[in-house]
Amino acid sequence: MSLDDFRRQPLLFGPSPIHPLPRLSETLGGQVEIWAKREDCNSGIAFGGNKVRKLEYLAAEAIDSGCDTLVSIGGIQSNHTRQVTGVACHLGLKAVTVQEGWVDYNDMCYDKVGNIQLTRIMGGDVRIDPAGFDIGIRDSWQRALESVEQAGGKPYPIPAGASDHPLGGLGFANWAREVATQEADVDTFFDTIIVCTVTGSTHAGMVAGFALEDRDDRRVIGIDASATLDRTIEQVTRIATSTAESVGVDRSLRDDEITIVAGYEGPAYGVPDATTVEAIQLAARTEGMLTDPVYEGKSLAGLIGMIRSGEIPPGSKVLYAHLGGQPALPAYAGFPGLGTPERELSH
Ligand SMILES: Cc1ncc(COP(=O)(O)O)c(C=O)c1O
Repeated sequence: MSLDDFRRQPLLFGPSPIHPLPRLSETLGGQVEIWAKREDCNSGIAFGGNKVRKLEYLAAEAIDSGCDTLVSIGGIQSNHTRQVTGVACHLGLKAVTVQEGWVDYNDMCYDKVGNIQLTRIMGGDVRIDPAGFDIGIRDSWQRALESVEQAGGKPYPIPAGASDHPLGGLGFANWAREVATQEADVDTFFDTIIVCTVTGSTHAGMVAGFALEDRDDRRVIGIDASATLDRTIEQVTRIATSTAESVGVDRSLRDDEITIVAGYEGPAYGVPDATTVEAIQLAARTEGMLTDPVYEGKSLAGLIGMIRSGEIPPGSKVLYAHLGGQPALPAYAGFPGLGTPERELSH
C-alpha cells in the first residue's frame, strides 16, 4: 500500500506556502532559524485550516460511497466543524455538526461569533449539546447520525478533528511529502517540526509521512493543547501506527518518533494563559502572523519556550506548522491582551 492508493478529493490551493520568520527568529536570539508552513492559507474553503487537508481523503470516501451528509462533532468554537461544513457546501453535500460545551470560558458572544457564526452563515445544521471536552466517540454524535438516517439521508461519520478514523492521518502524511519537495526547492532541511496536538491525526500523520523517509535527524515535536495528555499520547500513537501501515512504512515506529510536550496547554483546553497571550502577541508584532488562543498560540508558546530553554538548540532549523484557527479570535475579544486593552480591565 502507498499514499497514492487512496483517492484524494482536491480541496486545497496546492502545496501550502512555506516562508521564513526572520524577525521572530531574531527576537528569540537569532540562533535558531524559524520558518512556517501555512495551513491557515491552504484553501479558499471557509478560511482553510488543517481539517480541510485531512478532509481531502475523507470527502473522497464520502462521495465514492454515495453519502449525502457529513456528520461531525466539536466544541462551540470548533474550527473543525466550520471546515466540515465548508467542505460539504463546496461539494454539494449537507453537514450536521454537534457542538458541545468543550470550553469552560464565557466571553461576550462566545456562542455567536467566530467559527460558529461562519458555520451558520454556510447553512450548517448546528446542534448545540452541553457535554464537556472529550476527544472520544460521543452519544450525541451517534444520535446525529441516526437522525440523518431516519430522515432518509446517508450520513458520512467524521469523528472529532477527523482523527480517530482510518483515513484521518493521510492528509498530514501527504503534508510530510510536500515538505520534502519544498525543502529541495529552498535548499534547506528542517530538523525540527513544531505542531499543535489535540485530537492527534495532524501530528500522527506527519510522523507516519516522515517515517517513509527513514532518517533519524528530523524531530517532530507535538505541543499538547488538550490538557488531557495521556489520552492524546495514546491517540497519536495509535493513529501514527495505523497510518504508517496504510502508507507503506515497512517497520515499527520507534518510541522516539512520537514526542508530545506538555507545559504550554494553559489551565484547560480552550483557555489561554499569559504565556499563550505573550506568544500570540510576539508573532503578531514581529511578523504580522496571527494565531489563536486555543491551539496555535499554545504551540507557538511551546516553540518560543523550547528555544529560550535551549531544548531546541542553537543552529536548529525549525518548521512551525501553522494549522489555522484564527476565526476563533473574536470569541476571545474579552481576554486581556486579545482585544481588550489591559487598562480597560483594571477599573
Ligand atoms: C487550529 C488548530 N490547530 C491544531 C489543531 C489540533 O489538531 P489535531 O486535532 O489533529 O491534533 C486543531 C484541531 O483540533 C486546530 O483547529
